[in-house]
Amino acid sequence: MDFRAKAQSVDQLSDVSADALLIVLHGDLTQQRLDAPLAALLLDAASAGDLQAKSGRVLYLHRPVGIKAQRVVFSVAANGSVKAFKAAVAAGLACIKPLGVKQLVVAAAGGEVDAAQAEALVTAVADATYQYRHTKPSAPPAGALRGVTLLAGKEALKEAKAGLLRGEAVAAGVTLARECANRPGNHCTPSHLAAEARKLGRAHGFKVEVLDRAACEKLGMDSFLCVAQGSDEPLKFIVLRYEGAAKASAPVVLVGKGITFDTGGISIKPAGEMDEMKFDMGGAASVLGTFRALGELKPRLNVIGLIPSCENMPSGRAVKPGDVVTSMSGQTIEVLNTDAEGRLILCDALTYAERFKPAAVIDIATLTGACVIALGHHRSGLFSTDDELADSLLAAADASLDPAWRMPLDEEYEESLKSNFADMGNVGGRAGGAITAAMFLRKFAGKYRWAHLDIAGTAWKSGAAKGATGRPVPLLTHFLLSQVR
Ligand code: BES
Ligand code: MN
Ligand code: ZN
Repeated sequence: MDFRAKAQSVDQLSDVSADALLIVLHGDLTQQRLDAPLAALLLDAASAGDLQAKSGRVLYLHRPVGIKAQRVVFSVAANGSVKAFKAAVAAGLACIKPLGVKQLVVAAAGGEVDAAQAEALVTAVADATYQYRHTKPSAPPAGALRGVTLLAGKEALKEAKAGLLRGEAVAAGVTLARECANRPGNHCTPSHLAAEARKLGRAHGFKVEVLDRAACEKLGMDSFLCVAQGSDEPLKFIVLRYEGAAKASAPVVLVGKGITFDTGGISIKPAGEMDEMKFDMGGAASVLGTFRALGELKPRLNVIGLIPSCENMPSGRAVKPGDVVTSMSGQTIEVLNTDAEGRLILCDALTYAERFKPAAVIDIATLTGACVIALGHHRSGLFSTDDELADSLLAAADASLDPAWRMPLDEEYEESLKSNFADMGNVGGRAGGAITAAMFLRKFAGKYRWAHLDIAGTAWKSGAAKGATGRPVPLLTHFLLSQVR
C-alpha cells in the first residue's frame, strides 16, 4: 500500500480526482469546511434524514454530479478525538471494501489533520486490508485498494507526513505479529520464531542470537527447560539487539512469552477452544513486530528482545505437578500446576535480562485467563513496581489506541505463592490470578525497573473473527519512541 500526504485545502475537494473520496466529518453537519458542491450534497442528505451527526454513520454517493471523484463517502466521527477519527475511517473503508476502489483520497472536514490522525489512518487501512492466507491461499483478496492520499493544509503537511511514516512502521509491526501468531502450532514452532527473528535481523541489521537447549542448560535455566522437556519440538531462546544509540546507553529489554502451543502439560486443559493456545506466543510475536517497527523508524535507542520459546506438552518426560526446579536466579519453584508455564519460562528470561544492565525491562505475555476475566478484551493488564514507567506505558497505550489498565502489586498478594517444598509455588489460588502471576514474575525482576503486560485478553479475538490482533505492538512502539532522549 502506498500512503502519501498532499497539500490541499479541504474547501476545494470537489476538484480532487480519485476512485473514492472519504470525507471524515465531526461536529455540526452544516458547519463543515467544504466547498459548495459537496456542502450541498451533504446538507441535502442530512435534511432528508439520510445522514445524522452520529458516530458510525456513513453516506455513500456514486458519481455525484459536480464532483470529480468517482465516489464520495461521508463518515461521521463522534468527536475530534483520534479514536473517533480512526473509527470513522474504518467505517468508510468497510463501505468501499467490496468496491473496485484503487486510489482513495481522505480528508477531514471537521478540522485540520495532525500526526496522530495520519497514523490512525494508516493503521485503520492496515486493519481493513490484512488477510491471513499462509495456510488458506484460497482466502478472498483483501480488496483492490493500492494507494491512499491524505489531504492536509499547508501548515499540517509535515505533521501528516510524519504521522503516515509512524503509522506505516506500526502497521508493518502489527502485521508481522498477526501473521506469526495466526500461524498454527505445527507451522509456527520455536524454530520458526527463531527463523523469523533471523530474517528480521538480516533485513534491518539487528544482531540475532539463538540459544539451544545445551546453551540454556549451561545458563541454568532449569525453569524454562522443565516446560520444554515434555515436547519433541526443540526449544529456542532468541536474543535480538537493536542498536540505535551509543553503546553506553542502557537498553530497554522486551521479553515475550513464546509458547507456540499450550496444552497445559500434565495439568492438561479441556478440549474446548484449546486450538486458541496456538496464540500463546502472542507476546513473542509482539516483540518481533516491535522490532520490525524499530527497523523502519530507527530511533536513537538501544533495545534488546528476549524470546524464550517452546511448547507445553504432556508426555512421559513432561514436568509433573509437585516437581521442584531451580531457576536461573537460584530460587527454587514447586511446579504445582504445569499449565502455569508462562511464568516458568519468563522468570529465567527476566534473570537473563540482568546482564544487559537495562534502563527498563518489559515482559509481554498471554499469561492468565484471570486477566481476561478482570479486564475483558479491551485493555491489556499493566503491572509495574515503578510509577514513572507505568505512567509512560499508559501514556503510550492511550496515544497508540492500544489501551491498558494498571493493576495492583501489593505484597499481600504474595502470600498465596508460599510453598513447603520450594522458595515459591508457581500458582496462587483462583482469586486474583492475574495479580499472583505478576507477583511471581516480580520475584525475578528486582534488579531493574520492570513492567509486565498481560495480553491474554487482547492478543487475539475468538469466534467468527478468530485471529491475532497484533497488540500490543502499537503500545510498545510508542513507548520506545517516547524513551528517545
Ligand atoms: N496461556 C494460558 C493463559 C490463557 C488462558 C490465555 C486462556 C488466554 C486464555 C496460561 O499458560 C495458563 O494456562 N494460565 C493458567 C494459570 C493457572 C493454572 C494458574 C490459567 O489462566 O488458567
Ligand atoms: Mn498454560
Ligand atoms: Zn500459556
